[in-house]
Amino acid sequence: MTLCIDLEFVIDLKFACLQQAGILIFELGVNAVMNEMDDRYPFLRACHRQPTKYTPIWLMRQAGRYMKEYRALRKKYSFLEMCKNPELAAEVTLLPIEKFKVDAAIIFSDILIPLEPMGVEFEFTKGEGPVFRHPIREIEEIEKLKVIEPEEEISFLMRAIQIVRRELEGKIPLIGFSGAPFTLASYLIEGGHSKNYILTKGLMYQNRYAWDALMEKISEVLVRYLNAQIRAGVQALQLFDSWAGCLSPNDYEEYVLPYSKKIIGRVDSSVPLIHFATTSSTLLEKMKQAGGNVIGVDWRVNLGEAWARLGYDVAVQGNLDPVILLGSTDLIEKEVKRILNEAESRPGHIFNLGHGILPNTPIDNVAFLVETVHRYSSK
Ligand code: CP3
Repeated sequence: MTLCIDLEFVIDLKFACLQQAGILIFELGVNAVMNEMDDRYPFLRACHRQPTKYTPIWLMRQAGRYMKEYRALRKKYSFLEMCKNPELAAEVTLLPIEKFKVDAAIIFSDILIPLEPMGVEFEFTKGEGPVFRHPIREIEEIEKLKVIEPEEEISFLMRAIQIVRRELEGKIPLIGFSGAPFTLASYLIEGGHSKNYILTKGLMYQNRYAWDALMEKISEVLVRYLNAQIRAGVQALQLFDSWAGCLSPNDYEEYVLPYSKKIIGRVDSSVPLIHFATTSSTLLEKMKQAGGNVIGVDWRVNLGEAWARLGYDVAVQGNLDPVILLGSTDLIEKEVKRILNEAESRPGHIFNLGHGILPNTPIDNVAFLVETVHRYSSK
């Protein structure tokens, strides 16, 4: 009798193992097919420095106020309402895709979204941007911040990603994103946008324990947040360290780099990651050290020089000055040619602006830019 039960148990176990192995093989097969399909996308190929038919292009803030369709929706809903409604967020994500032949979509959301479930409320005020009524400056406040489960607490974003992926299947890939810990910490500490980052640097220099505790907590949330977006379906990620350029290279290395590096190291590496900052020409090598398949470069440094300094074992993204898009088509064409020449047709260049598109950008200029980049870079 005992033997019988044991045998049954062993048979059950073997069957379970076989079933597991079957599932694994099936999943590996699906992933292989997915990767093969992903290989068709010039944007993803460029992230991995593979040759492409033409230089892929997408634009930071490509779904935004410069589009009349976006402004019409904003008359009915607040920005945060749009971010938190999966159907609306998906619709807005797709607006520029219907209009321009960009090579990637970026999910419509904001870097500040994970901060609310962590326990910090904010609002977007007209003209001022984001405002936090109760900034985080003391260790007691840092300790109270919640380490969230993004799939539960930011489920609207995951749902939006699933909707967009379904709509985009076979067309172009979808990029997910988050802020980097320094940029998010600066909003939490300053209570909004800042000119000199006095309070942020104050905490950093004068209370190392609190600084590390805050950066540690934000980093843990970001690892979970980015991996949750991958599970929901994004095919690439961008880490926005928009304000890290206010730091000296030494301070970046000491107070920020270890955290960005830890996050990038713990995010599923089968999905390429773009590591972006502005006013970062003095930080590029250190950003590469922190990680990323692609380094985002703003216009304050020439792309050719930036790439030579970074080394050609990493891809680059950028770096048109967004103000050029307010100029004539001749000016846009001249700048496109210059940037493409600087990239020297090397595999691994993704064309983009050096920062987000400006609200008063003429729509026709955006169409012209995308078309011109494709035309001049076609092989
Ligand atoms: O790129 C995209 O199209 C995806 C959507 C996206 C938004 N914000 C939408 C948005 C992304 C990737 C962001 C990132 C973001 N948000 C950053 C990093 C990039 C950067 O610009 O440096 C930062 C610093 C924020 C924080 C933020 N959000 C600020 C400072 C502001 C106000 C300033 C402004 O441009 O209005 C926002 C609002 C915001 N985020 C808007 C959009 C479309 C405008 C909202 C509106 O309709 O009023």
